[in-house]
Amino acid sequence: MILTVEPTESGLRGELIPPGDKSISHRALIFSSLAVGRSELSGLLESEDTLATLSACEQLGAVVERSDGKIFVTGTGGKLKPPPNGQLDMGNSGTAMRLLAGVLSGQEFDSTLSGDESLNSRPMGRIVKPLTLMGADISASGAGTAPLMVRGHGQLNGIDYVSPVASAQIKSCVLLAGLFASGTTRVSEPRLSRDHTERMLPLFGVELPAKCSVNGGSKLKATKFAIPGDISSAVFALAAAAITPGSDVLLRQVGLNPTRTGFLRCLEAMGADVSTINQSAQSTEPVGDIRLVFNGGLKAIDVPESLVPDMIDELPLLMALAATASGITRIRGAAELRVKESDRLAVMASGLQKLGVELTEYPDGIDIRGGDVSGGCVESAGDHRCAMSFAVLGLVASDRVQIGKAEFIATSYPGFNSDMQQLGANMGEFQ
Ligand code: S3P
Repeated sequence: MILTVEPTESGLRGELIPPGDKSISHRALIFSSLAVGRSELSGLLESEDTLATLSACEQLGAVVERSDGKIFVTGTGGKLKPPPNGQLDMGNSGTAMRLLAGVLSGQEFDSTLSGDESLNSRPMGRIVKPLTLMGADISASGAGTAPLMVRGHGQLNGIDYVSPVASAQIKSCVLLAGLFASGTTRVSEPRLSRDHTERMLPLFGVELPAKCSVNGGSKLKATKFAIPGDISSAVFALAAAAITPGSDVLLRQVGLNPTRTGFLRCLEAMGADVSTINQSAQSTEPVGDIRLVFNGGLKAIDVPESLVPDMIDELPLLMALAATASGITRIRGAAELRVKESDRLAVMASGLQKLGVELTEYPDGIDIRGGDVSGGCVESAGDHRCAMSFAVLGLVASDRVQIGKAEFIATSYPGFNSDMQQLGANMGEFQ
């Protein structure tokens, strides 16, 4: 499907509640499926990625019911049942595959995890290695990719794992396997990645003996959990408002976990008028409303490497904004972008060049010179965040922008088009 974006004459205006946080939704489903009792989840994201997790949880024995806009999950008490034919399809979702691989390594049955073409080409050696150190019998393809074959024998040992990458998926995979291991499992990482797992486990009754560690045999208990709006989805409307003259948007009930707000700090540094109001706490996460009022064009920045983990999913969007900013924006220390749903540095560089943007790509980053952006056709390479980033940029291009494989936007934000249209953006899709 092709998404067509027309230059927007007037600013974006209005309020939105973004869809539920994707990372937290995956965890809420997995944790409640492991728990004893019936959990009540509100605000769950229902996108292709999280529905893949929900379906896997059902196949593993959890019972999911819907009522009054909420999801109720009756858990298995930690003893999952083998999925039909031993197979689970995780679609496009790296989080679903890596977190569930940790859980399945601790079970006493065999299972195989696979995904779509993109997911089956992403690196899985990063989880196979620590799980093997824990005694798991898990193997990937020769290229170190999915399908992942787990031969469950239920005898894991706890480890102290020093992760070479700041990755919440690696960290969460190892901690979840640690729940089924003997002794204590600890994970450290070069920089703190999103910490939803560590925040959420105590609400599900698992006390962490120290930061980023779990005791084997800990039991999860059902709970009531409210999932905040996804800052990684809210940013698209905020970014659009930051570059479209006359805009004033308010994004309500957005998760403001400090491990996720690097993009807001960059927006400020680029000169945007962005403010956070009505802050409170919801379940385990800080939440608030974010207002952005257009106040003139953005200026280029050097993105601090220390902020990269806090905005890893927002870097494609930052690249789109950089194309409009005065000066050269520099991003480094972001080689992880090459192993996301696509090689995001290459996909963004190629699309931006098609729209007339001057840039230089590096192995771990990019320099982008801001200026005029022309219309044209770009490929999202089936990457939801690249597709939405190009759509935002299309609002200020000199002519129509068309984005290929835009149907992948539904992996994280099925309502993207209608939300953007509601704010006044002129975008529509055709087959
Ligand atoms: C996620 C962690 C990040 C992020 C992904 C969601 C999570 O991946 O890019 O979209 O929910 O744990 P890495 O752990 O690979 O950095």
